[in-house]
Amino acid sequence: MGEKSFKYVILGGGVSAGYAAREFAKHGVKPGELAVISKEAVAPYERPALSKAYLFPESPARLPGFHTCVGSGGERLLPDWYKVKGIELILSTEIVKVDLAGKTLVSGTGESFKFQILIIATGSTVVRLSDFGVKGADAKNIFYLREIDDADKLNDAIKAKKNGKAVIVGGGYIGLELGAALRINNLDVTMVYPEPWCMPRLFTSDIAAFYEGYYANKGVKIVKGTVAVGFTSDSNGEVKEVHLKDGTVLEADIVVVGVGGRPLTSLFKGQVEEEKGGVKTDTFFKTSVPDVYAVGDVATFPLKLYNENRRVEHVDHARKSAEQAVKAIKASEEGKTVEVYDYLPFFYSRSFDLSWQFYGDNVGETVLFGDNNPTSPKPKFGTYWIKDGKVVGAFLEAGTPEENQAIAKVAKLQPPVQSLDQLAKEGLSFASKI
Ligand code: FDA
Ligand code: NAD
Repeated sequence: MGEKSFKYVILGGGVSAGYAAREFAKHGVKPGELAVISKEAVAPYERPALSKAYLFPESPARLPGFHTCVGSGGERLLPDWYKVKGIELILSTEIVKVDLAGKTLVSGTGESFKFQILIIATGSTVVRLSDFGVKGADAKNIFYLREIDDADKLNDAIKAKKNGKAVIVGGGYIGLELGAALRINNLDVTMVYPEPWCMPRLFTSDIAAFYEGYYANKGVKIVKGTVAVGFTSDSNGEVKEVHLKDGTVLEADIVVVGVGGRPLTSLFKGQVEEEKGGVKTDTFFKTSVPDVYAVGDVATFPLKLYNENRRVEHVDHARKSAEQAVKAIKASEEGKTVEVYDYLPFFYSRSFDLSWQFYGDNVGETVLFGDNNPTSPKPKFGTYWIKDGKVVGAFLEAGTPEENQAIAKVAKLQPPVQSLDQLAKEGLSFASKI
């Protein structure tokens, strides 16, 4: 089998890979120096589109429309861009064996790739219901969503099951975004999740009450406090029913499961230091192995603002960590160094005609402000998180770009607050004057 050799290899072809490639190009790479190896068949793209515009019934987003780096307002890197820059895009190629010390990657078809410097950008995979032994979970038309292939299969099923019934298992990001997407496609949607309210890892009960009310008004049914324990299928092997732990049976033509992600670190087990489920890095995204970096979802890095090592599974960090790693690699080649990664966590989501942003840390007491009545003609509200007398996190639904910038500034600067009542009264104007 063949062997190829590169100065730099990016393992993974997702969001981080696209932004890392652009950063390499900015600093200058010689033809043949850099390769991106991806098991996907397409050049890096903005993954968030898959659960949003890619599933629209009218004018859906399609490649090449959302290749990186358009998601942050940057240049769209078409496959040709890589060619012109002399960057090898090695697609439909899954790496199945890694020898970090020996600086070698091996693909499923036995091809070897040698590297001098490696950037691990393998992202996450989905947690599957079959991982915890849910019966019948391998029936047809039970979908997970991570890659463009998954989204294509889901789109085919949406067309085949027009006006049918959909059950969404999970009340996190995928659950909420897919619940909306399938409803927009006119399916009869029921969401099921175990917690007392949706997105509990970020939302307070007040925030969740708004989204649950809004979804209910759009005709989405919500079953809380229970989980799917089994599925039955018809004679074609297609899912027919979802059995819940509380005894309820839901009919289903399509099931979408979003019960969490898991960083793809198994290839490197025992070869590199890990922490909090990810590959441990320093502020330059350097791992414990010389010349090996890790970025995006897989990296557990020092989050300076909170003086703690964390992993972040969101697109903004995927982009910025990739840029930081490449800057650090290039600087070190000249005996220089770059500034530490001073990251402010930023998460967002969009569904129906809603759009929220969150910055900072969701710890401590909370203060709700604004109008979170889901039946209001123009609801607009937010929440501050306050810890040790300082605002450390801020959430805003329906903010303008300026208002979103204002809450980001609050989360970064952590201004002190005297009275929570006063903060609730001031609401957004507190952020706007910081
Ligand atoms: P990413 O998953 O983007 O890329 C990993 C790549 O590595 C993939 O191409 C994969 O095929 C490849 N790979 C893995 N193992 C391999 C192997 N062994 N060999 C070869 N290739 C391999 N975030 C946010 O902030 N706002 C949002 O709205 C959304 N929306 C959203 C929707 C959906 C459907 C998903 C799945 C995720 C989001 N996210 C999000 C999260 C965000 O997309 C995510 O954090 C980034 O894509 C992470 O970027 P990475 O480059 O780390 O992984
Ligand atoms: P998640 O962690 O956001 O949500 C998982 C949810 O699964 C939990 O909230 C819970 O409701 C539910 N759950 C857990 N166990 C269950 C069980 N046994 N039965 C039923 N429900 C169960 O994960 P996700 O929504 O699957 O998202 C996967 C990944 O994709 C994450 O990394 C996420 O950050 C990313 N993503 C992000 C966005 C965004 O940032 N807007 C959008 C989509 C996906």
